[in-house]
Amino acid sequence: MTSADLTDEPVARQQAADWYRSAVTYQLYIRSFADSDGDGLGDIGGIRSRLPYLASLGVDAIWINPWYPSPQADAGYDVADYRNIHAPFGDLQQARALIEEAHAAGLKVLLDVVPNHTSDEHPWFTAALASPPGSPERDRFVFRPGSGPDGDEPPNDWQSVFGGPAWHRVEGGEWYLHLFDVKQPDLNWDNPEVRAEFESVLRFWFDLGADGFRIDVAHGLIKDPALPSLNLSQQQILARVKVPDHPYWDRPGVLDVWQEWRAVGDSYDPPKVFVAEAWVESSARLAEYLRPERLHTAFDFELMRARWHAKELRETARISLEAHDSVGAPVMWTLSNHDVTRHVTRLGRPQQRTSGSNAPEFPQGETDVALGTRRARAAILYALALPGGVYLYQGEELGLPEVEDLPEEVLQDPTWERSGHTERGRDGCRVPLPWQRGGPSLGFGDALGWLPQPASWGELSVEAQEGDPGSMLALYREALRLRRELPQLGHDGGPLVWTGEEDQVLGLARGNGFVCVLNTGAVAVPLPPGRVVLSSSPLEGELLPPDAAAWILADQD
Ligand code: NOJ
Repeated sequence: MTSADLTDEPVARQQAADWYRSAVTYQLYIRSFADSDGDGLGDIGGIRSRLPYLASLGVDAIWINPWYPSPQADAGYDVADYRNIHAPFGDLQQARALIEEAHAAGLKVLLDVVPNHTSDEHPWFTAALASPPGSPERDRFVFRPGSGPDGDEPPNDWQSVFGGPAWHRVEGGEWYLHLFDVKQPDLNWDNPEVRAEFESVLRFWFDLGADGFRIDVAHGLIKDPALPSLNLSQQQILARVKVPDHPYWDRPGVLDVWQEWRAVGDSYDPPKVFVAEAWVESSARLAEYLRPERLHTAFDFELMRARWHAKELRETARISLEAHDSVGAPVMWTLSNHDVTRHVTRLGRPQQRTSGSNAPEFPQGETDVALGTRRARAAILYALALPGGVYLYQGEELGLPEVEDLPEEVLQDPTWERSGHTERGRDGCRVPLPWQRGGPSLGFGDALGWLPQPASWGELSVEAQEGDPGSMLALYREALRLRRELPQLGHDGGPLVWTGEEDQVLGLARGNGFVCVLNTGAVAVPLPPGRVVLSSSPLEGELLPPDAAAWILADQD
């Protein structure tokens, strides 16, 4: 080994460890991505067959939603065995092969860990039901006697995120806590056995090759042992936690768990990474999760919640960036995921906030899909120009809108039943992807998919968009290609400078000669001098039209 090799090694190591800071990660909602065996459910075989597509899209990593054995009461977020694969999705051998093939294609692989609750079919919970009150088996969960003279009232007034009480009474009289579905009993994180078990689960998948984990409900886990009532009518998950000293969201003790997990991740070379799903009150609070000794990253849900208004989009990003910078963490910009209305639809709706749904801060009302599509094209150019990483939700690169008219009889989200059929839930953003113009499920598989696709999606399919330079897919590919190529972009590219403070137009410069301009107003606007390397809509002469964004490179001579 030469002395140059020796000096370069720490640098190379650091680079290998830092891959996540600028990464574009593609969220694979496995049941809806691609079905290789014709049972209507996506699977590992489907993902493996589409790895070339993901590599050609130009993403750096994939995140796979829970793929573990599960009764699927909440689409896999009810885990019955944390160390295996749900049989309809494949098996461990296929999982290992997928991870290896993804790595060979240059893609990192993040899995999804669900530590707040298990399935009621997890062996620990079956053992708890078979054991008496006060037993070690019950202590892994949150069992309590009921209130009222006969104990036949729930221990307190907590509501399930999906509707109805968060407590269920079992034979013998005790009640157990389930902040989500009745089939998702909450674990007791004050029990050391629970902590040890999850560390072992992390190691199991890390040893199999996974590069990291998305952590489900990372603001959950710890409960106030006094279990005080909340006296609140609505206890939503996708809303900011505004109650001070909330008895089950964002309790300080959860940060200790993340510190322990960080140590597990750091014991690997290169270190394994985490991304938190944490719906907390503010970016400043989120930053507490991201101190160097805790988690690497968390989804930024602020951009998702911002209205289509340049000033708000700029201020939102500014606040997120400042908070993350204060702890040295990169922001993970996110426009959509499997829990929220797809952003083509959100952005095509009147941009005011309403209340009453599970996600009260998201726009409701009539959708103009063409308008939403134009805005979605601009939004991704904005997100990709910001420092940090970006999470893409499968299908957004095709411009898929929310499916708002799924027949009631096909709805599977537990929200539908638990809300007494008042909230349709999240199935509209989970409809299987269209790969081809025709076929029983538009190329998703050889049979109908688990949810029906709108016939109009044939024209949004990968096949229809391939080779069309004006398509959403072409825009994503080109933007991702440029983002890799331009040294100004990514987390550690050029420093960000906001150019101007206008209400309806924002400009952001990155280092030497790169500018992104976003116009959310009603009139076309002039662009700074330079070469337009990408624009989300055709320019009007020299002007950037409404609801559009452009990337400009200053001429370097
Ligand atoms: C957040 C997940 O993203 C969502 O899909 C799930 O229902 C809840 N956590 C419960 O695990």
